[in-house]
Amino acid sequence: MYVKIEPDYDALSQRAARVVADLVRRKPNAVLGLATGSTPEGLYAHLIRIARDEKLDFSRVTTFNLDEYEGLPASHPESYRSFMQRNLFDALGLTNDQTNLLSGMSSDPATECANFEAKIRRAGGIDLQILGIGSDGHIAFCEPGSSLAGRTSLVALHPQTIADNARFFDKEDDVPRKAMTMGVGTILEARSCLILAKGSAKADVWAKMIEGPVSSQLPASALQLHPWVIAISDTVAASKLKHGDYYKHMDRELADQPVLPHWVFQPELDPRAAMLASR
Ligand code: F6R
Repeated sequence: MYVKIEPDYDALSQRAARVVADLVRRKPNAVLGLATGSTPEGLYAHLIRIARDEKLDFSRVTTFNLDEYEGLPASHPESYRSFMQRNLFDALGLTNDQTNLLSGMSSDPATECANFEAKIRRAGGIDLQILGIGSDGHIAFCEPGSSLAGRTSLVALHPQTIADNARFFDKEDDVPRKAMTMGVGTILEARSCLILAKGSAKADVWAKMIEGPVSSQLPASALQLHPWVIAISDTVAASKLKHGDYYKHMDRELADQPVLPHWVFQPELDPRAAMLASR
């Protein structure tokens, strides 16, 4: 894992946006995996600025979002489709054909989830998956106890997640109880991952994800099994890391190295290519 510690939220957001922008510049038909929540908002704002200032073309990019609440129509202001339109898609001019989100209103979630996985495969797989982390250790909506090999499915949200997300709704009772989400197994198949954390509320879970044991009790820890994860946080979220000084040293020492693996640009060279092709 490439652990990077930035002084504050704006610096981490800028650095993360630069990773995405450089990918799209080098691979204009990149497939991006996207997250919602408050953490990636700064990344998206910087990406919009970079796209405008540097005339970065997103017209051939395809996106897949990690998750969507069950029972919320796309038009609901707190649906993840609405979040993405507001925070990224409208400003970049991304069309509905380019952007894929699970439908929270599907009457057949199992088929909806299977079709979503098939679409990811048809798009050639995800080049870079953006992630946030829940205070209970979830990634996407893979809550504690999720299979680390899990696929896209309907899940029940943990009470902690419902409480955490109540801030986006009028009251806690309005937070949907279920969601459809990529599984940890789906996420681990992305060619590279970029996970972000900010603030003191994430300090414990960030240290466990990076330095604790791999466990389904903390699904984000499964990222330790992925060959290329960039983990960027602010200093406060990094404050409980035991090896923080080493990560900073590593960041400086490797500053001239590519930020993304060569197999993002040459997928046939992915060390997992044979395993992924057999799916
Ligand atoms: C949302 C998602 C979630 C969030 C997580 C952190 O698409 O995948 O896993 O990343 O709940 O949310 P924030 O960033 O609001 O703390």
